[in-house]
Amino acid sequence: MEYGPAPESTKEAQAWLEQRGRQFGLFINNEWSAAGELFASINPADGSKLADLTQGSAEDVDRAVAAARAAQPGWQALGGHGRAKIMYAIARLMQKHARLFAVLETLDNGKTIRETRDVDLPLVARHFYHHAGWAQLQAEEFADYRAVGVVGQIVPWNFPLLMLAWKIAPALAAGNTVVFKPAEFTSLTAMLFADICVQAGVPAGVVNIITGDGRVGEAIVKHAGIDKLAFTGSTEVGRLIREATAGSGKKLSLELGGKSPFIVFEDADLDAAIEGLVDSIWFNQGQVCCAGSRLLVQESVQDKFLTKLRARMDKLTLGSPLEKSIDIGALVDPVQKQRIEGLVQSARDEGCTVYQPACELPADGSWFPPTLITGASTAAAVAQAEIFGPVLVAMSFRTPPEAVQLANNTVYGLAACVWTENISLALDVAPAIKAGVVWINTANQFDAACGFGGYRESGYGREGGREGMYEYMTALSEDARPAAPLVEPKAKAKAAPSTGGAFAIDRTAKLYIGGKQARPDGAYSRAIHGADGAFIAEVGEGSRKDIRNAVEAAHKAGGWTKATAHNRAQVLYYIAENLAARGEEFAARIAAMTGTKNAEKEVQASIERLFYYAAWADKYDGLAHQPPMHGITVALNEPLGVIGIVCPNEAPLLGFISLVAPAIALGNRVVVVPSEAHPLSATDLYQVFDTSDLPGGVVNIVTGSADELARTLATHGDIDAVWRHDGSAEGCAEVERLSAATLKRTWVGGAKGRDWYSTAQSGGRAVLAQASQVKNIWIPYGV
Ligand code: NAI
Repeated sequence: MEYGPAPESTKEAQAWLEQRGRQFGLFINNEWSAAGELFASINPADGSKLADLTQGSAEDVDRAVAAARAAQPGWQALGGHGRAKIMYAIARLMQKHARLFAVLETLDNGKTIRETRDVDLPLVARHFYHHAGWAQLQAEEFADYRAVGVVGQIVPWNFPLLMLAWKIAPALAAGNTVVFKPAEFTSLTAMLFADICVQAGVPAGVVNIITGDGRVGEAIVKHAGIDKLAFTGSTEVGRLIREATAGSGKKLSLELGGKSPFIVFEDADLDAAIEGLVDSIWFNQGQVCCAGSRLLVQESVQDKFLTKLRARMDKLTLGSPLEKSIDIGALVDPVQKQRIEGLVQSARDEGCTVYQPACELPADGSWFPPTLITGASTAAAVAQAEIFGPVLVAMSFRTPPEAVQLANNTVYGLAACVWTENISLALDVAPAIKAGVVWINTANQFDAACGFGGYRESGYGREGGREGMYEYMTALSEDARPAAPLVEPKAKAKAAPSTGGAFAIDRTAKLYIGGKQARPDGAYSRAIHGADGAFIAEVGEGSRKDIRNAVEAAHKAGGWTKATAHNRAQVLYYIAENLAARGEEFAARIAAMTGTKNAEKEVQASIERLFYYAAWADKYDGLAHQPPMHGITVALNEPLGVIGIVCPNEAPLLGFISLVAPAIALGNRVVVVPSEAHPLSATDLYQVFDTSDLPGGVVNIVTGSADELARTLATHGDIDAVWRHDGSAEGCAEVERLSAATLKRTWVGGAKGRDWYSTAQSGGRAVLAQASQVKNIWIPYGV
């Protein structure tokens, strides 16, 4: 039986466009500017023009930022309840006009009405409701935080309205005002949203919307009045934004591309997995950052699964996205079609098998059939590049470890699907996959309560949930930081003897790599002088090669990450105990190096800080969310991997411990550059570590030039994050700039100082959050 056509009416949407004269200016300070230089918004399903939009200029961005700045204190002063009421009104209005929004989105983007109506709009409303709740609870739940200020937000075209909601809702909830840029292909629902803001009573200047292409994006990124940037889009532009904002102090979250694995084990419910795969790679024509674009299927069921898959592909319907029964709509623009065609052709050229069901493509518009590629090598372009189209690349594996290894064989780390009826296997594999979201026996599930975001080159920061709120806030303790590092006046009277007491015998400290003392590769050393100018000792002059060795050793120490938190806590306590046993020697050394009168206090504070993070090690638990589905979403706080750390010069022992302890408490391994001026407290720790059951390779120490070694850490391909806290503004900016190549996370102190004795400034959840990333594992249940 054939179904008759059931197209969704476009009457209301067309009437709205007509009423607006099919021409839009910019939305600044709750007013529409006159239309300026125009560009067309095209319906990709038939090539017809829907409206003209204004290409914003740098001056327009200036005006929008000024409006947002002026509005921010008032928006903040409304208080949590005041903001919650307005956000609730937005949510209600979005629901009321859901059909109009859904049709407009389909017209503008080419995605099917089934998806805009049943997925995008309900999630948009849910996002505003959920975040109205965070606004209401902000004072109570985030008492130690404040709004960041003015936020710049740039989104892509694949989920125009949903990305708007993901960006604007948490920003407003936290008390920020926004300058928002939709993608140039798909701005119409943002224009309609501006009307909703006015209706909902959003005060003037709180939401400003500037249309236009990447030039508007660049103007927002570079604008000095922007305090935080949130970007979703290509990894390429994400890198540019990281470089452009290096050293600016702007907070940054990046949600970038992906090449997500869809793993099918032999015991999976194969029919359910096929449906999951359809949702995973053919949802929104595969134009989804977390699309399951790499099918990894266990060899024993490969033929059976691929046969089923081809049969299912034959049944997918492609055509007018307004048709309610259509599975696959139009691609957003001919440029995307060309890109996809080029990549599929490269697979054909390499001898891969390309399967496409026989389906008729409409004459007008941008279309691409569902496509399955088999026989590709793991290094092939189609197996590595984000295709961003309805194209699936299939490979096989034999064992669970091989599945994990293939899954992680990508520079990205956004999402993964795991299909198996064996929950034990699923929960073993999920933490091993380097991705921010793992769906078990389901695909492409999203909820406002569950954070979403990437590992590796898929970016950093989370959207949704508590962790998403932190992206839009600043800890009050940051405001309390001193303008410059607190360098204590040197003790003029009797400095402790520069010979360093009991350490005097060994006057050339080596490096510490893989749990062993190692000579620097270059065989050079540098002299360290005390506060009184006298020579104390030599330390190794670490080089690029030494950092490479240290990173290698850190990678080999993966057992530390797998160890229980209880076990890690024991080691930290043991380090504290052994440090305490030699407290006097350490105090003498600190006094000799820095001339401080507070050396004993510093040792005591270091011991306490070790206890502090030992205490946290088994208490920084994740959360179990209960999103609107039959199941749970487990949010795990996972370590980042290998962190490069450049320590402060002041408080050479406490600064070192305050950075290294939280990192290793959560299971990271570290390559540490101790204080350049006073490195001997760190080198004295070698023996403490050796006697404290700290496995080799967990803490590696390379002494030498902070600038040079930081540069090597920031450019190293196998380091996941770099922290720099030595008060060097240029050095910190350089770390941020260089980190763009591999999009590693950074945590830099800039030129400001930090009170290392204060737990508020140098401890707490904010530091633990720097040492971890949240993975959300979705586990639906029921039979
Ligand atoms: P894009 O990254 O260029 O565009 C995303 C947004 O950034 C748009 O609003 C755009 O105007 C803006 N933009 C462009 N250049 C900018 C700059 N220099 N500074 C600031 N903002 C800038 O993505 P595009 O060109 O639309 O798509 C290209 C490829 O990117 C896709 O084929 C896909 O592989 C990937 N992509 C990934 C997305 C994701 O959700 N992860 C979304 C869209 C695209």
